[in-house]
Amino acid sequence: MRLLLTGGAGFIGFHAAAALLARGHEITALDNLNAYYDPALKRARLAQLSDRAGFRFAACDIGDAEAIAAATAGERYDAILHLAAQAGVRHGLVDPGSYTRSNLVGHQNVLEFARHHEGLAHLIYASSSSVYGNDSTPPFSEDARADKPLSYYGATKRAGELMSHSYAALFGLKQTGLRFFTVYGPWGRPDMAYWLFTDAILNGRPLPVFGGGTLRRDFTYIDDIVAALVRIVETPFPATPEAPHRLYNLGNGRPESVLTLIRLIEEATGESARIEQAKAPPGDVRETYADISRAARDFGFAPATPLTEGIPRFVEWFRRYRSL
Ligand SMILES: NC(=O)c1ccc[n+]([C@@H]2O[C@H](COP(=O)([O-])OP(=O)(O)OC[C@H]3O[C@@H](n4cnc5c(N)ncnc54)[C@H](O)[C@@H]3O)[C@@H](O)[C@H]2O)c1
Repeated sequence: MRLLLTGGAGFIGFHAAAALLARGHEITALDNLNAYYDPALKRARLAQLSDRAGFRFAACDIGDAEAIAAATAGERYDAILHLAAQAGVRHGLVDPGSYTRSNLVGHQNVLEFARHHEGLAHLIYASSSSVYGNDSTPPFSEDARADKPLSYYGATKRAGELMSHSYAALFGLKQTGLRFFTVYGPWGRPDMAYWLFTDAILNGRPLPVFGGGTLRRDFTYIDDIVAALVRIVETPFPATPEAPHRLYNLGNGRPESVLTLIRLIEEATGESARIEQAKAPPGDVRETYADISRAARDFGFAPATPLTEGIPRFVEWFRRYRSL
């Protein structure tokens, strides 16, 4: 298949591209390489992909519809994997406008591009567990209302789902939205706790830990997510009498506390953590916990990597990447 991938220099986009190229698909990847976290990491990911057959990268901001048109001129895609976004919960306290530009304006630009793209069979896009606030009952079901997100990030992701739904209803645009739950692994994101803690422990710095480490997250290993993405890309969208828009949780289905995460990083690094209690900033939910039965039913989704295996793999990669 010929695929358009947004956010191709990002953590999940990079892994998805590598797996899809290995299966013979062709990819045009777009990314604006912004400085939310070190763009050198984004470039290093791209360097792993740049000479692979079937891969093309174009620097492009999805907040700019004309830039998308220019970056994709003359190409035809069978499907779009739309992963570009302003990610992270806490940055929403600092620069909410960046979420509006990438996750609302950018999302609508991708929808509009998809609607006019002749022959496009499927738009698959990233949503987030952050659409669930503190009021959803764990394990979170896709049927929960999800209308009280705690963060501005979660609000833009939920809004993106609703925008997608309207494009499915109005224009028949076939779409699958994926609510990822705390994805981690090699080539991961420097703004996330598992990276920050590993970095602090290996460099002898204290770790600010919120809420006594009792917050729980449904940590999901990148390879399990990528296996699902490949399956979803390669499976034709089913015929439906309703608006062709589906939502799936993609999580591990097994929440773990932040203290467990720290203990596993200590074991993997052989170093002890110096924990400093800190007050949780607003926007962080107490727990995320995915009900994954819908994805299991429709895609055979069966995450196979427990945190006890995934964290040592991340730490090994991190040491190599940082020469530590
Ligand atoms: N990693 C997780 O735990 C997680 C959890 C829930 C949802 N998600 C979602 O999954 C997707 C991928 O996340 P990730 O972890 O790979 O994050 P990431 O930040 O590593 O990747 C996103 C990429 O999008 C690019 N980007 C951002 N705004 C852009 C714009 N306006 N134009 C072009 N490119 C732009 C960034 O430069 C980045 O490379 C995002 O939509 C994110 O919200 C991730």
